[in-house]
Amino acid sequence: MKAKKIKEGIYWVGAIDWDLRNFHGYLTQRGSTYNAYLIIDEKITLIDTVKAHFSKEMFKRISDVIDPSKIDYVVSNHVEMDHSGALPELMEIAPNTTIITCPAGEKGLKAHYKKDWNFKIVNSGDSINLGKRSLQFVLTPMVHWPDNMLTFMPDENILFSNDAFGQHLASTARFDDEYPFDIIMHEARKYYANIVLPYSKQVQKALIDASGLNIKIIAPSHGIIWRKHLSEIIEEYKKWSSNQTEKKAIVIYDTMWKSTEKMAYAIQETFEEKNYNAPILNLQHNHISDIMTEILTAEYICVGSPTLNRNILPGVAAFLTYLNGLSPKSRKAIAFGSYGWGDQSIPKITEYLKSSGFDIVGTYKVKYIPDEEDLENIRADLRAKV
Ligand code: FEO
Repeated sequence: MKAKKIKEGIYWVGAIDWDLRNFHGYLTQRGSTYNAYLIIDEKITLIDTVKAHFSKEMFKRISDVIDPSKIDYVVSNHVEMDHSGALPELMEIAPNTTIITCPAGEKGLKAHYKKDWNFKIVNSGDSINLGKRSLQFVLTPMVHWPDNMLTFMPDENILFSNDAFGQHLASTARFDDEYPFDIIMHEARKYYANIVLPYSKQVQKALIDASGLNIKIIAPSHGIIWRKHLSEIIEEYKKWSSNQTEKKAIVIYDTMWKSTEKMAYAIQETFEEKNYNAPILNLQHNHISDIMTEILTAEYICVGSPTLNRNILPGVAAFLTYLNGLSPKSRKAIAFGSYGWGDQSIPKITEYLKSSGFDIVGTYKVKYIPDEEDLENIRADLRAKV
């Protein structure tokens, strides 16, 4: 396994996880990578590591360039174990290595690994000299965990951005000009919707803090490195973090005997009539993490379930719990569903949507099977509201 040169003396030495399909409930159809970066200078520096069970792959790639025991510094941009997992093994091989991290990083690494390693603590604005080049640090707490930070190399204009700008995407291609752009952007969008979305305020602050840096390469800790399409991904991050929506309505539902499904199609048709981009997503066939990718820029979120045992269908409950945690802001919502003798599904869905902070613009329920008149009543009511 070889290191991949990014610039003279700077190498990608990470690991490719071809098999990853589930990341905290997020369906990662294209696998992932854990990106570690090796800098050869007077001080040999490694930026982040990889998941523990990929350590051999990382050490092979480092050994392609240099003996890993010669590493002087490890910059830990983030404590989460997909980036710090191989740190204990590295510290066995190179016990005199200094770990450069922020105060929350030191606290998190000590809590995880219970080791008395050498730490050098940095804060925003601090920099360290590696010899010919230097590294600057920008703390970005909660751009996933309290310990996140960005590392910038001004001499080569590289931002090592950790989770920010990442994508779960396994590939032997390393750069955004070596892989289909629409797939990279789709995976970046999915990553934002399923990982970064709850921290959008912190992302906006990080974008402001990083706006003064002359960035030519963004090297994230997952997926492809950005060197061609920087302006596109930065613009998308600005849009996603500021909660900008499009003329888009998503209809999400599960159904028992296709009554709720009929209502879903009536709602979808109405949005289509009004020239909305209106995908209809049956929870039996669409994964909740793919639905979140669609929701990222949706103006309307419509959720349907029939009543089952005084409740909603379990797939709808799982989706609503996931949605509530990721908390997209300021959306308009519709609850709908059929019922037999109890009509508990509508208040349950409405409660979830309200607790997500959405504005409920319509609720629709039909006993047993909706006929054409019921469906036209839904269409007419919705036409008047949209
Ligand atoms: Fe890729 Fe928050 O770790």
